[in-house]
Amino acid sequence: MAKPVLFVTRRLPASIEALAEQGYEARLTASEVAIPDLLARADGADAILCCPGDLLDAKTVAALPGSVKVIGTFSVGLDHIDLAAAKARGIKVCNTPDVLSVATAECAMLLLMAAARRAGEGERLVRSGKWAGWAPTQLLGTGLSGQRLGIFGMGRIGREIARMGRGFGMEVHYRDMTRMPSQLELGAIFHDNDDSFLPLCQFLSMNAPGGDGTMHWLNQERIAKLPFGAVVANAARGTLVDDTALIAALRSGQIAAAGLDVYNGEPRLNAEYLTLENVVLLPHLGSATTTTRDAMGQVVLSGIGAALVGETPSNLVG
Ligand code: DGY
Repeated sequence: MAKPVLFVTRRLPASIEALAEQGYEARLTASEVAIPDLLARADGADAILCCPGDLLDAKTVAALPGSVKVIGTFSVGLDHIDLAAAKARGIKVCNTPDVLSVATAECAMLLLMAAARRAGEGERLVRSGKWAGWAPTQLLGTGLSGQRLGIFGMGRIGREIARMGRGFGMEVHYRDMTRMPSQLELGAIFHDNDDSFLPLCQFLSMNAPGGDGTMHWLNQERIAKLPFGAVVANAARGTLVDDTALIAALRSGQIAAAGLDVYNGEPRLNAEYLTLENVVLLPHLGSATTTTRDAMGQVVLSGIGAALVGETPSNLVG
């Protein structure tokens, strides 16, 4: 029996490409970045394995060939796929939950720490060849221990950040639509409104999904409610941040430092960030560990396989 055709939009880890080739007539792609001819390459495919940044908006989904029954995304985030349009076409969608929570939380902690301890500035100083040696007042930052950590979006990744924050001796607060069962809170303090939450956030980690509901959540009004000199990190989606407001706050000192892994319109980013010393910039590395990316590949392939044979995979999202 002929294998189903799987169109893979980007180069994947070698072990995952090998797995794809075992189960499918795999149409692999050498490119690491988004390809322009996605629709043409999907022609005749039973399933598409896409990535964040492959825009499957309503128009593109509507134009997909009739052969496509499943879209699997190599991500937990779904903001690049119009789920309603996929549903209207009867196309199932699955993603990669759980397996990347720890890696992404580690990245959020890395951003908080690098921003608070001025690691970017320090690295640039050493590389510049201008470092003159240890000095009592050089690059003084802020420690995490004993500080309050606010988490916006207490899903699986947020909960891992809470666990790590506790390990650093931080007092954890969180803002979400609903309170978690107390056995999952492990001492984290729930806030159902910004006015009680934001003024406590000496450190703020944003971990909510992207999309219309969280568009530019960190705006001028919310920034004004943070304690002066707060440190913020975004390892979720660039759309959570109003860049103009964040840049103004980084200039004024209202926000002492920020760590960003994701950007509005990435891979482009607001060029003013590049002029600021007090922002640490990473290229969307949240889930980028070898074991995590392998696990993501296994989860998404298993979801695609199940959906193609009419089963309901646990990672089905639409
Ligand atoms: C995701 O999974 O949504 C990340 O942003 C990519 O790892």
